[in-house]
Amino acid sequence: MVALQENPLRVGLQQDRVPEPQILIIFGASGDLTQRKLIPALYQMKRERRLPPEFAIVGVARREWSHDFFREHMREGVEEFGSGLGSELLWEEFARGLFYCPGDIDNPDSYQKLKAFLSELDQQRGTRGNRVFYLSVAPKFFAEAIEQLGKADMLPDPRKQRLVIEKPFGRDLSSAQALNKVVRNICDERQVYRIDHYLGKETVQNLMVFRFANAIFEPLWNRQFVDHVQITVAETVGLEGRAGYYEFSGALRDMVQNHLMQLFCLTAMEPPNSLDADSIRNEKVKVLQATHLADLNDISLSAVRGQYTNGWMKGEPVPAYRAEEGASPQSTTPTYAALKLYIDNWRWKGVPFYMRTGKRMPKKVSEIAIQFKEVPFLMFQSATRQANPNVLAMRIQPNEGISLRFEVKTPGNSLRTRTVDMDFRYDTAFGQPNTDAYSRLLVDCMLGDQTLFTRGDEVEASWRLLTPLLEVWDAPAPPEVIPLYEAGTWGPVEAELLLNRDGRNWRRL
Ligand code: BG6
Repeated sequence: MVALQENPLRVGLQQDRVPEPQILIIFGASGDLTQRKLIPALYQMKRERRLPPEFAIVGVARREWSHDFFREHMREGVEEFGSGLGSELLWEEFARGLFYCPGDIDNPDSYQKLKAFLSELDQQRGTRGNRVFYLSVAPKFFAEAIEQLGKADMLPDPRKQRLVIEKPFGRDLSSAQALNKVVRNICDERQVYRIDHYLGKETVQNLMVFRFANAIFEPLWNRQFVDHVQITVAETVGLEGRAGYYEFSGALRDMVQNHLMQLFCLTAMEPPNSLDADSIRNEKVKVLQATHLADLNDISLSAVRGQYTNGWMKGEPVPAYRAEEGASPQSTTPTYAALKLYIDNWRWKGVPFYMRTGKRMPKKVSEIAIQFKEVPFLMFQSATRQANPNVLAMRIQPNEGISLRFEVKTPGNSLRTRTVDMDFRYDTAFGQPNTDAYSRLLVDCMLGDQTLFTRGDEVEASWRLLTPLLEVWDAPAPPEVIPLYEAGTWGPVEAELLLNRDGRNWRRL
């Protein structure tokens, strides 16, 4: 048996380390994310004994709530969105570490009050000045909150205080650069944790292990053998009452710049020298820097946007995007985006990477498919059809797993071939994987492990790559400019053409 520490691949995978005593301070604690995701994830960690007993949470928001009101509100969140309380005693123990401190993002007095309260808690609970400040506020307040934390001298020691910034980090290259500037003025990059919850998904973490812990795939993982790559993140949900955010964001900013780009990087990057955060992030930045939209002269040959109209989902009628509450009836916000990218490096030159994401698609499904080249010469003349090329499909969610498609002879006297799949499924191999990305990310941040978080230059590289597209798509345009697709279908017909022009098709999922 190899000892855990000796195997670098396993260091990043283990989840059994318990963080130092510390306080997690959540700004925007009255919002949905805290009640639906963060507290249920933290309580789950408590149930699994992955939190130190001294651990405390301080919610900060404008509303004048009491500690007890906050505790009760969070309890409802755990009951409704988490996996339940388990025992009443355990909840009470957890709730004793929950506190609420009302405050305004832009009011220096609020930070002084918070600072005094945190010092008091340090005394009471032995948390020794270890703090994670989690910004779960509207993105327009990120810079203000960071500046105020800096002025109040609340982030002085990179080893003891950390800052978590939710997505979206900027809305284009220049705003991401401006925000990075604020961050760098106040913090050391080692204390900054930019969240992309896709990186916390078990199947996304497995991408690197699958690629670099197996000897047989990597020799094929290049332009010599791969015809193209398809990355799909399809969702069945629509706007979900988030018009205030989504109308100004759309599919490219909400999904492509972050989640799909991360899947892309992990698929295309070179093997890192080691598993430390910077080695991995260096490789991701390198691949982003080498990537460009397929045709910079004609954006329509590189990307397609779309917006859903009314349609049917699971037998129920659903409204058009423009008829959703809060959306403009003239809105040109894309709820669908498909892109074609090329990477100019030795490994990938000339291999198209297609990616697509959309809301109100027929299925919730995320996968990365590596489609290999066709055989150079098919000698089975008597076969009744063409052989299908091999496909390696990595299913991110649901039905988490990996399958490899290949051709076999159908039993019998005639020489017929058939396509079959060799399938690995997480649920049969390990039981259902833990799909809660937030608990993994929170624990990593408390442990000071930045591997699953995005670095400043990485976010900028991803915005830079999308800039030519944003310039075209952001230009004021009449509503007819955006292709429409019926809710419950796989996107606009233009997206089919993006691949058909190259003699290819989107996978049927
Ligand atoms: C979020 C987006 O980051 O990711 C949402 O803002 C989207 O619009 C969600 O629905 C998808 O996450 P998941 O984990 O359900 O695939």
